[in-house]
Amino acid sequence: MSSSFGKAIKITLFGESHGAGIGAVMEGLPPGLKVDEEFILSEMDKRRAAGKVSTARHESDIPQFLSGVKNGFTEGTPLALLIKNENVKSCDYSNISHVARPSHADYSAQAKYLGYQDASGGGHFSGRLTAPIVAAGAILRMALSDKGISIGTHIQKLRGICDSPFPEDLEAAIASLNEKRFPVLSEEAGSQMRREIEAAAADEDSVGGVLETAVTGLQPGIGEPWFDSIESELAHALFSIPAVKGVEFGAGFAASDMLGSQANDPFAVRDGRIVTLTNNSGGINGGISNGMPVIFRTAVKPTPSIGKEQQSADFIEMKDAVLSIKGRHDPAIVHRARAVVDAMTAIVLSDLLARRWGYMWLRTEQ
Ligand SMILES: Cc1cc2nc3c(=O)[nH]c(=O)nc-3n(C[C@H](O)[C@H](O)[C@H](O)COP(=O)(O)O)c2cc1C
Repeated sequence: MSSSFGKAIKITLFGESHGAGIGAVMEGLPPGLKVDEEFILSEMDKRRAAGKVSTARHESDIPQFLSGVKNGFTEGTPLALLIKNENVKSCDYSNISHVARPSHADYSAQAKYLGYQDASGGGHFSGRLTAPIVAAGAILRMALSDKGISIGTHIQKLRGICDSPFPEDLEAAIASLNEKRFPVLSEEAGSQMRREIEAAAADEDSVGGVLETAVTGLQPGIGEPWFDSIESELAHALFSIPAVKGVEFGAGFAASDMLGSQANDPFAVRDGRIVTLTNNSGGINGGISNGMPVIFRTAVKPTPSIGKEQQSADFIEMKDAVLSIKGRHDPAIVHRARAVVDAMTAIVLSDLLARRWGYMWLRTEQ
């Protein structure tokens, strides 16, 4: 089992959905990083339920810093943050404790933890475990932003509806996305996407989607090939997010269908800087940043818990069963997963930057 991720900056995750609480421990942070609770809460708010397109379970989700933070700055010692679980209704799940929710982790967790696991609400495999990741990531996101590195994500596609592509002025697009709870570049596409989510909800079903992320301001030369290349580290972290089923960088799978002359990004010198005239590589060559924006897409599957009747099996009584899940579930999680993708990106890049320049590099100048 591995609940820790990162080398220079390490994050360890713990908790269960309906236990006492969930949280994270961060090691390797420099002393003097700003811990802006208002910014952390606003990031966490993006991960939380939002209106008709989200679950009805409401949590206050205020992280409590047990150690490592004093007077609004990191101390440089291990930072432990705890989010207490409130608003827990275990009875919502009583009918499914032995009947595996299709494409959730009930049966695979049973196979691993042999019935000793707390399975209610998805237990350790609940999307709730992403809340501490967002809190931890927000601290690093702010540190990166102070160094001129910005991260922004939009819903690129949902049920065949495509958002506008990232524009030339990426900085402005990222700033505007970071203000939105339903992150799209085209409000018209966003309305159509919302309608699809609401239609799925009315039918007791769910939808997935593709998130596209841009990172600007990352200097060339970051990444630790072979095995800790930017792609390897980001993919590792992104695939750890529940419901993520695909990750591609730059032109991604489409590059395999291009000619070399189409896929190659021509180099040029502009304003005394080496740039590329296209960015099919997504800002990464040889696992190392080339100074262009880092661009990647993350595929999020439909929420597995749905109200519609489904075929399943009771793994204790060993017989087929029909499942209809009552309770509170999101008809889509893609818009909420965006905050988790942004947080994971901040965690991975901070770790790689700390490995390149030393962990004190991330420190907020005072
Ligand atoms: C932010 C977030 C919220 C989630 N909320 C739910 C939920 O309400 N119901 C559900 O069935 N799955 C939810 N999930 C997805 C499950 O946790 C996930 O599908 C499950 O753990 C199985 O993992 P896998 O899909 O990666 O195989 C959520 C995921 C994320 C990232």
